[in-house]
Amino acid sequence: MKTILSGVQATGKMHIGNYLGAMKPWVDWQNQGRAFFFIPDLHTLNVRPDAETLRGNIYDTVAWLLAVGIDPRKSTIFVQSRVPAHAELCWILQNYVTMGELNRMTQYKDKSSKRGADGQVVALYTYPVLMAADILLYSADIVPVGEDQKQHVELTRDIATRMNNIYGDCFVVPEPALPQVGARVMSLTTPTIKMSKSDANQNGNIMLADEPKVITKKIKRAVTDSGSTIELSDDKPAIANLLQVYAGFSDMSVPEVANKYAGVGYGTFKTELAELVVEQISQLQMDYEVIRQDKKRLDDVIEEGSQRAAGIAQKKLNGIKQKIGLT
Ligand code: TYM
Repeated sequence: MKTILSGVQATGKMHIGNYLGAMKPWVDWQNQGRAFFFIPDLHTLNVRPDAETLRGNIYDTVAWLLAVGIDPRKSTIFVQSRVPAHAELCWILQNYVTMGELNRMTQYKDKSSKRGADGQVVALYTYPVLMAADILLYSADIVPVGEDQKQHVELTRDIATRMNNIYGDCFVVPEPALPQVGARVMSLTTPTIKMSKSDANQNGNIMLADEPKVITKKIKRAVTDSGSTIELSDDKPAIANLLQVYAGFSDMSVPEVANKYAGVGYGTFKTELAELVVEQISQLQMDYEVIRQDKKRLDDVIEEGSQRAAGIAQKKLNGIKQKIGLT
């Protein structure tokens, strides 16, 4: 049986890129093996969130996971900081990765270039090593992520292979799995950059918590390319992105959506796209509101999942410590 593992940061604020690129596919993945979905709250510390905000965001994020359909009877849902083995393995792995490798991580280059010297914390630099620990502790075969995380999973493969070569069978070498649709959802205002919660222009992203009228407004204002009718083409990145969003929410392929709307005006397409997105997100929001109120249920899910995860992770860590001579 395959092991599947992925995580979404504890910001509590997910956009449709996170949803289409990761969380929605996870709902299918959980039926295809032994699944782990977790909140990497230690990773989130690199932006130094306010303590009370972080505490609330962890609950928000777990509630969203349940709302989109991650089922704790099928998947282990846990919080990273409740499993001490992550930080310990991260320290060990740091000895098997070079600064040269970390310097090549595009997300690090991108994020650190946007921050002042004070924001360029060491944890942002070593972030991919903690991610490798997350993945390797559970012997994950498959890591379903959006495109921006692929390079981190590839680094994890390199670290695992390196340690396997030195010590013999330490780790399963994981594969990244990108969804067919939605692996890279772009900003609605600047379709050359990916949709992101830290986008200075909040009209560029659609958050799962946005009100229907806000979603509709953002879609209507989304930039379009030259021309006036729908056509799938390399020189129309804005339309390609909107077609991708439609495909993601309708479970159609991008060419199918392009066919359905071939020759239709941008205005009509955007109206129908907004209706589709609003209908689906409204349903998720209703489920989210009910789940988020039930703190006892969320505590139970976190507690049970984290205990199960901790047992598996500790066993793996003990084996590695033995192999490398710490015990
Ligand atoms: P995070 O929280 O930034 O994003 C969660 C997931 O959403 C995907 N994603 C996107 N997909 C499509 N289009 C976009 N515009 C878009 N933006 C984000 C991400 O690729 C991701 O799959 N480092 C990770 C969390 C993490 C993790 C792990 C993931 C920590 N440890 C171990 C897998 C395995 C992150 O910051 O994701």
